[in-house]
Amino acid sequence: MRKKIDVSIMINIAILGFGIVGSGTYDLTVENAASIEKKVGVPVRVKKIVDILDFSKHPARDLITKNFDDVKNDPEISIVVETIGGTRVAYEFTKAALLAGKSVVTSNKALVSEHGLELTKIAKEKNVRYLFEASVGGGIPIIRPLKQCLAANEIEEIYGVLNGTTNYILTKMRDEGTSFADALKQAQDKGYAEKDPADDINGADAARKINILSWVAFGELVDYDKIERRGVGDITPNDIKKAKADGVVIKMVARAKRVDGKIVCSVAPQRVPLGSPFALVDGVQNAIIVRGNFVGEVMFYGPGAGGRATASAVMSDVIEIARNIVAHSKRA
Ligand code: HSE
Repeated sequence: MRKKIDVSIMINIAILGFGIVGSGTYDLTVENAASIEKKVGVPVRVKKIVDILDFSKHPARDLITKNFDDVKNDPEISIVVETIGGTRVAYEFTKAALLAGKSVVTSNKALVSEHGLELTKIAKEKNVRYLFEASVGGGIPIIRPLKQCLAANEIEEIYGVLNGTTNYILTKMRDEGTSFADALKQAQDKGYAEKDPADDINGADAARKINILSWVAFGELVDYDKIERRGVGDITPNDIKKAKADGVVIKMVARAKRVDGKIVCSVAPQRVPLGSPFALVDGVQNAIIVRGNFVGEVMFYGPGAGGRATASAVMSDVIEIARNIVAHSKRA
């Protein structure tokens, strides 16, 4: 017979980096606390938030610390959400959290693309998880569907519109004649763009995302520096006008496929015919098409950036880990 769960347990999480995604994740844990508790079996609460900025007026101010050691050394915190971004501090904290026996959930595509292999290995050795559903496609479920629902297939190709900021810019330029600079400013104001939006515009962000997808789908993490990428920085209003007249739309498309046994990833703007499913993917929306040898083509579509949408993906990983912790505590 199953032992009764100790109702005094609660899953404590910490958030590292209280920016757009970190604060969106906090809001989600507060707004959806009751339904999450129902699904996990125990409450899931944010116990600490690490950020160096001043949040003395924020409702969560009592949870804020500037010192990561307060999280690392807290035995009650079992899941750490890393939403710092970048590969320096985020790498150091993620590694330390995993080594301290905590699972880590991230939206940080740069870190996963650069250090995912090592961090996943450490997580396995420490018997915890390193999950990154939120690192690709914002709120679109794609990592877990690839790993689980499509696991029976040999994946032949993955391609998609993977950057919300540039898709937003291209859409605004086409539909409203907005200038590139103004559309970028709007995307920044809406919390879509990277801290350094050059990463969005030059294709680096999309290259990291296709790198992660190809790792999950093909089991090999290709060298990010070898990904051929061309951004949208040189697309002019004239190019957009001409595309419109030709009955096509310009989309920045990322692609991963096997060529002569090797995985090749690329990012480039493409003229997409109006009949293509990508032609309808506008604004901050992303779309990912996966071609498997049995299922054929499957398309995933939804908001590719933004605090609330990305928090949804972050918390799906937290809930997955929390459910496992609860299941194990029942068996103990
Ligand atoms: N800057 C990214 C984008 C955020 O615009 O898609 C989500 O990864």
